Amino acid sequence: MKKIQVVTIGLGYIGLPTSALIADNNISVHGVDISQSVVDTINAGKIHIVEPDLETIVTKVVQTGYLVANTTPVAADTYLIVVPTPFKGNHEPDISYVQAATEGIIPLLKEGDLYIIESTSPIGTTEKMMDLIFTKRPELVDKIFLAYCPERVLPGNVMYELVNNDRVIGGVNTASTQKAIEFYSQFVKGNLHATNARTAEMCKLVENSSRDVQIAFANELSLICDKAEIDVWELIDLANKHPRVNILQPGCGVGGHCIAVDPYFIVSDYPLESRIIGKAREVNNHKSFWCAEKIKEAKKDFQLKNNREPKIALMGMAFKPNIDDLRESPAKYIVQRVLQDANDDEYFIVEPNIHTHNIFKITDYREAVEKADIVALLVAHNEFKNITFREDQVILNFCGI
Ligand SMILES: NC(=O)c1ccc[n+]([C@@H]2O[C@H](COP(=O)([O-])OP(=O)(O)OC[C@H]3O[C@@H](n4cnc5c(N)ncnc54)[C@H](O)[C@@H]3O)[C@@H](O)[C@H]2O)c1
Repeated sequence: MKKIQVVTIGLGYIGLPTSALIADNNISVHGVDISQSVVDTINAGKIHIVEPDLETIVTKVVQTGYLVANTTPVAADTYLIVVPTPFKGNHEPDISYVQAATEGIIPLLKEGDLYIIESTSPIGTTEKMMDLIFTKRPELVDKIFLAYCPERVLPGNVMYELVNNDRVIGGVNTASTQKAIEFYSQFVKGNLHATNARTAEMCKLVENSSRDVQIAFANELSLICDKAEIDVWELIDLANKHPRVNILQPGCGVGGHCIAVDPYFIVSDYPLESRIIGKAREVNNHKSFWCAEKIKEAKKDFQLKNNREPKIALMGMAFKPNIDDLRESPAKYIVQRVLQDANDDEYFIVEPNIHTHNIFKITDYREAVEKADIVALLVAHNEFKNITFREDQVILNFCGI
């Protein structure tokens, strides 16, 4: 049995690829997840998420023994916290998972160990966890290294970006920053930028807030254009011919575990100062509500014109194209909203990246399009790009397919 060098806590969309990459560099990793089925799947050399190239590496590192999964941690030299950081009902960040994961390893820590948080976290979280650790293990003050290193990979391209993206690494002191940089330099080829923990925490939140604000601008334009009877896609294309203008594409809202969540971590702590950041969240949420209303209006129009209920295809539920992740998905919100006051068999719910759902009956996209009178394109999945629609169908193109 290999001596465990790294413990990763949380084996989800980020923790598993990270663990696999580290293990693929011949560094022995003990991955921890509270889900027994996740642990069993990984130990069988398989994966429980959709991510290109990941399964091949997991199969390899499990076979070579460099990656082992378990529900409890063991002693190691480096601990990576990669657990969820959702928000609570009032949009306040919930760092209880980070705290629980940290509490689980406190008894195992020893002098010289490195503790890193990768979970997206509100400003000051790393210092809070440091206080928690030192309250329980005061003998470790100044004897261990603590740092924050956010993850900025793109789902669908994670295995490439984990290696090649630049990373921002902020320790609670210079020695911690340096120690964390040494750790990442074993498997990251991108540049490693040194800073302090608070700036690194804020950097992640700002990256996603910046995207959110820019998408909100495009979504706001789409609402204005709808009223002004202007094709928003053509408009943006033309405006972007300006050498210094680069407007993003509108969609049916903003979703996922990052862009739709992280700005709230700033707004919640700095409500008076973060006006644009807060407004962008409102605009992007409103866009999803607006899309749902448009589908309902199209349904009413159809009823009036044809004297019968239309069949409606709702195309896509993931939060962005070509993935199976439904977290904070605006498309899923739209599906839920239009189904609220509707008869289920009027709708075909389509999501080519998942086979079953515990609430919705999933229909194959070809069958849905063939039978539908109204097709609402919610997510620009590749499967939808070559569909030929009939002339008699009403197409609501919310994602610019
Ligand atoms: N998914 C992304 O694209 C992405 C990108 C950048 C940053 N992040 C951030 O990375 C962090 C992890 O996100 P994710 O997408 O990997 O989440 P995830 O939900 O896919 O995975 C988290 C895993 O942690 C496990 N877990 C929860 N509590 C635990 C505990 N106490 N001990 C052990 N395991 C525990 C869960 O069972 C789950 O399998 C979040 O803070 C997220 O904001 C995610």
